[in-house]
Amino acid sequence: MSKKPVRVAVTGAAGQIGYALLFRIASGEMLGKDQPVILQLLEIPDEKAQKALKGVMMELQDCAFPLLVGMEAHSDPMTGFKDTDYALLVGARPRGPGMERADLLAANAQIFTAQGKALNAVASRNVKVLVVGNPANTNAYIAMKSAPDLPAKNFTAMLRLDHNRALSQVAEKTGKAVADIRKLCVWGNHSPTMYADYRFATIGGQNVKDLIDDQVWNETVFLPTVGKRGAAIIEARGLSSAASAANAAIDHMHDWALGTGGEWVTMGIPSQGWYGIPKDTVFGFPVTCENGEYKVVEGLPIDAFSQKCIDKTLAELEGEKDGVKHLL
Ligand code: NAD
Ligand code: LMR
Repeated sequence: MSKKPVRVAVTGAAGQIGYALLFRIASGEMLGKDQPVILQLLEIPDEKAQKALKGVMMELQDCAFPLLVGMEAHSDPMTGFKDTDYALLVGARPRGPGMERADLLAANAQIFTAQGKALNAVASRNVKVLVVGNPANTNAYIAMKSAPDLPAKNFTAMLRLDHNRALSQVAEKTGKAVADIRKLCVWGNHSPTMYADYRFATIGGQNVKDLIDDQVWNETVFLPTVGKRGAAIIEARGLSSAASAANAAIDHMHDWALGTGGEWVTMGIPSQGWYGIPKDTVFGFPVTCENGEYKVVEGLPIDAFSQKCIDKTLAELEGEKDGVKHLL
């Protein structure tokens, strides 16, 4: 084992996504089977949460993962993010009874302002940040704005679960294998307004649009199924998606760090003005990754229907940004 260990911070480490995520990071599924890791696990100071975190750490220890060379429990991001190379911000304030969207945004703004400031102060200058906790795009925006000394491009939000959900729906509709689908993407916010787009997708060289050729299915089945999948899982399980969310987080970080070999994936990233999306809005775009950097797939034609969908999800995100403006 010759590689230098990297530090991976995970917030919400005793939560249900944490439980589906940590063991896979420690086994090398995220950063490679040759990359030792030190886990920096963050939970709220609450005694019950810290005790549960200790339990998860006992289990991690009991796996005797060869790549897990260190493990720490924290309740303060100023220590939890010290020198961290990768930060997965999973913990967030869930919507409580009687809570309005504005209250939810404000509660999370507090968490992600503090975490952004801590990353700014103590993390590696190259830290790669993935925000999973909802509202993920706006939380990533808040963390990014609170960390002016770090590169803005290193703050990302998770749209990969939506991307994976869209892949599976297209595979089911066409009767083809997920592994053969290329060039699919999801634009916008991780919310029901997202726009999952298979106009450019191919399967074994054939255009998915020709294989499906059904705009009614696109508008009345595909988009609502992908967009409302999170709510459908909550309805069925009584809890929000956890294993699939953890899986998407692994995919996102894996591809960002190790590359996509030219394939498209979806990442929520701060816009540089691509496709008319205002600078810094954290938006789902098609990207490829190489050498630890993502690159937006540019120059794709946007037809009238797609523009309408993109405008809708953008308007929602701009509204969220407005809602937290005074807190930044
Ligand atoms: P959970 O309630 O099981 O766990 C969340 C954990 O975070 C809790 O243990 C809580 O104590 C902890 N926490 C809260 N605030 C924290 C803070 N400031 N610092 C450290 N820890 C903190 O929730 P979960 O099912 O694991 O989901 C976590 C988040 O991920 C939720 O916001 C959920 O909506 C979101 N989510 C996002 C996606 C996506 O695709 N982006 C998918 C699924 C879930
Ligand atoms: C999901 O897409 O499964 C989650 O974001 C749903 C949620 O509200 O936690």
